Amino acid sequence: MRLTATPLIKVNYLGVNLFVKRDDLYPISGGGNKGRKAEYILAKCIAEGCNAVVTCGGAQSNHVRATAIRCKELGIICTIVIHASEPSESNGNLKLLQLLGVKIVYCEMVDVAKVMDAEMAEHAKQGLKPYYIWGGGHCLEGTQAFYDAAFEAHTQAKQHFDLVFHASGTGATQAGLHVGFKKINLATQVIGISVARQNPRGTEAITHSVLEFVNENELDTQLSENIIFDDEFIAGGYEKTNPEQLNVIKSVAEQTGIILDPTYSGKGWYGMQQYIKSGKVKPGSNVLFWHTGGLLNLMATKQI
Ligand SMILES: Cc1ncc(COP(=O)(O)O)c(C=O)c1O
Repeated sequence: MRLTATPLIKVNYLGVNLFVKRDDLYPISGGGNKGRKAEYILAKCIAEGCNAVVTCGGAQSNHVRATAIRCKELGIICTIVIHASEPSESNGNLKLLQLLGVKIVYCEMVDVAKVMDAEMAEHAKQGLKPYYIWGGGHCLEGTQAFYDAAFEAHTQAKQHFDLVFHASGTGATQAGLHVGFKKINLATQVIGISVARQNPRGTEAITHSVLEFVNENELDTQLSENIIFDDEFIAGGYEKTNPEQLNVIKSVAEQTGIILDPTYSGKGWYGMQQYIKSGKVKPGSNVLFWHTGGLLNLMATKQI
C-alpha cells in the first residue's frame, strides 16, 4: 500500500474545539473517502490473484472514479457499470472516468446486477481473473480502511474526541469509524449524517457492517453499540439540497477555506452545525469533522 496520513487541521468554529480530518485531500485525483476504501479493496483484489475489476455506481459516483484511478495505477483492467443513461454532458467524476479510458457500460438501475454478472463473465472469457466490487465499495475492506483511519486521526490529534461527524451513505465509512473510535475510547460518539437514506434502513446497513467487522476480528461486541445515523438533514434525498445547506457551504468556504459539496460533505457539515447550534454539543467539546471529499460533485453541480 502507499497510504500516507491525510492532514488533520484545527479550525475556529462556533466556540467548539473543531478538528477537520482532510480526507478530501486523500492522495488520488479528486480525493475523498472512496480513495481510502479503494486502496484496501484493490489490495485484496491483488492478494486474491485477480487482474480485472467490475463495479458500479451513479454517473457522479466517487467510488467508481477512485476505483478506476487506482486500477490504472496498479495495471488492473476495470469495467464500470453506471446505472443511468449516458449524459449528454460529461463533467465531475464522469469526466475523469472517461479520461481514464476504462470500459463504461450504461444501464437501468434494475439491470445492474445482471449487467455486472455479464461483465464478470466477459472478463473470464478473455482469460482474466475478475474481482467483483459492490457499489460504494461497501465491504469488509472498506470498513477496515476506516477502522484504521480512526487510529490515524487519533495518533495525529494525541487526544480523544467527544464527537465525530461525517457524511454517511452506504455505511462502511461510518462502520469503520464507529468501531475504530469506540476501540480507542468508548465515550467517543460517531454521528453519521445521512446523505440520502432514511431510517431504519440506514442504521440497519451500518449495524450489519459493524457486526460483520466486530465478528470477523473477534472484537468486543460493546464496540457495536450506540450507532447514530441521523436522517434529518437529507434535504429531499440524494443529490438534493436546500438554501440553508448551500449557505453553510458558502460561509464555511469564506470563513475557513474548506470546500464542501451539496451531495455529501455539505450535508455532513450542515448536520454538525445544527447539532452545535441546538446546544447538543457541549461548549468546549472536542469535535472532529471527517471531511469525506466531494469536490468533483461540487464541480458537476449547477446548484451552487
Ligand atoms: C464524498 C463522499 N462522502 C461520503 C460518502 C459516504 O460514504 P459511505 O458510502 O461509505 O457511507 C460518499 C459515498 O459515496 C462520498 O462519495
